[in-house]
Amino acid sequence: MKKIILTGDRPTGRLHLGHYVGSLKNRVKLQNSGDYDEIYLMIADAQALTDNFLNPQKVKDNVLEVALLYLACGIDPQKTTIFIQSQVPALTELTFYYMNLVSVSRLLRNPTVKNEIKLRGFEESVPSGFLNYPVSQTADITAFDATTVPVGDDQLPMLEQAREIVHSFNHIYGDTLVTPKELLPEDEKAHRLPGIDGKAKMSKSLNNCIYLDATNEEIKEKVMQMYTDPNHIKVSDPGKVEGNVVFTYLDVFCNDEHFQKYLPDYKNLDELKEHYSKGGLGDVTIKKFLINILIEIITPIRCKKQELMQNLDAVYDILKEGSKKANIKANETLKRVKHNMQIDYFDNPEFLEEMKEKFTNK
Ligand code: TRP
Repeated sequence: MKKIILTGDRPTGRLHLGHYVGSLKNRVKLQNSGDYDEIYLMIADAQALTDNFLNPQKVKDNVLEVALLYLACGIDPQKTTIFIQSQVPALTELTFYYMNLVSVSRLLRNPTVKNEIKLRGFEESVPSGFLNYPVSQTADITAFDATTVPVGDDQLPMLEQAREIVHSFNHIYGDTLVTPKELLPEDEKAHRLPGIDGKAKMSKSLNNCIYLDATNEEIKEKVMQMYTDPNHIKVSDPGKVEGNVVFTYLDVFCNDEHFQKYLPDYKNLDELKEHYSKGGLGDVTIKKFLINILIEIITPIRCKKQELMQNLDAVYDILKEGSKKANIKANETLKRVKHNMQIDYFDNPEFLEEMKEKFTNK
């Protein structure tokens, strides 16, 4: 069986470091591993509209924004098919058929959906499109025969729901759809990068993000604001490493070479942590170190994005070509689905024969 990846993002804002460690970096690695036969990367504009339907401009503006950052981070359109969800009609069609296989109460029980309904204040009246987005996500995954879906752990309930739908479809209509499996980032720590305020997640509305196209000035400003240990007042005070955002970031981003380059008084992070815990190490020193590391990571991404912005025609063509390819693949799956559901009247010569037999002989 072919190994196929599908994954994607809602285009609702600029991508930040949380996206980078949680998914983008890993996608580039998977893309370049040569382990996969096909890779699809979807800009999920239709899904973004399920909770932004009053603000289509926001979704539109972010389609190219997301595409630019994909490319700037190293996604190669020769290896990864980048496409726009709404431009692949088979996905909406599949969603409609899969909706028969899921109960409303099952959708309401999905922990991710439950949480998002609360966050968006939808409790009183959940739009049915929003409630159904796990079904639409199942369509995205199965349309490409995806075996592997690289996601963060917040998406696990989606994968579970997708497998239920696949199982139920194959049971009712015969073996048709491929059962997908999630692929979590290898690095536990990278699962979720907190915001600079130490809150669980980077989020635009909390203003706690470091964006992937941040300037050096912006990086400095954000790191200097980072939450550390409120009881570490004087340099000589012992400091706490757990819950200290600077160390959380260093855990994710720094390696021993960074020490040689920017902070040669220490060999590695363990030594730095030990000194900080004992006392005698100031926040400014660890923050400056982190600033140097983040500048090293972000600068090439920002520069590549700027270069791509000068040639938007090419980016537009990549999305158009990718969407064309995605349509070919998704239409093949749709054809199989409709055949097995017995609704392929004009593609199936047996249909008329069967009906003739039925009606003429009566
Ligand atoms: N839900 C994902 C997000 O919030 C985007 C998405 C849509 C997706 N369809 C998908 C991810 C299918 C993986 C597989 O960003």
